[in-house]
Amino acid sequence: MITKVLMVCLGNICRSPLAEGILQSKVDPEKVFVDSAGTTGYHIGNEPDRRSIAVARKYDLDISKQCCRKFGAQDFTDFDRIYVMDQSNYENVIAQSKNELEKTKVKLLLSEGDSDIVEVPDPYYGGEDGFESVFQMIDHACEAIAAELNTK
Ligand code: 4NP
Repeated sequence: MITKVLMVCLGNICRSPLAEGILQSKVDPEKVFVDSAGTTGYHIGNEPDRRSIAVARKYDLDISKQCCRKFGAQDFTDFDRIYVMDQSNYENVIAQSKNELEKTKVKLLLSEGDSDIVEVPDPYYGGEDGFESVFQMIDHACEAIAAELNTK
């Protein structure tokens, strides 16, 4: 059976589009479906932030065709796993859950892998460097997720 994974951040233009593209590039599309969403609706319908598109392109990933959407309660039904980037995303998503099963689907992305850092910081107001380090953090966690899901 296909495992459905949703990546969630605040705006769905910086971090979660990278997480979607990176995980997608590492998994068998017949086994894993990946999508992303934001807890806010400020950028609905937009493509990812140009700095996320640029850092992804540097690593041969094209995330420019992604389209921003807002996280909703239906996502708890539609997805098996919901990975959030930071604690604030976690609280915003959990606040929309209806039961324990839905809550157990939600995890911090960096809880996967062996990172000492627990949150993917919001790079929106920073410089290009922030996008590079965010890419590396997400890539590390997605490597661990893909290794597990590809053997399922
Ligand atoms: P993201 O970054 O949650 O990684 O997509 C942000 C994008 C936009 C805003 C904040 C964070 N914003 O305030 O518009």
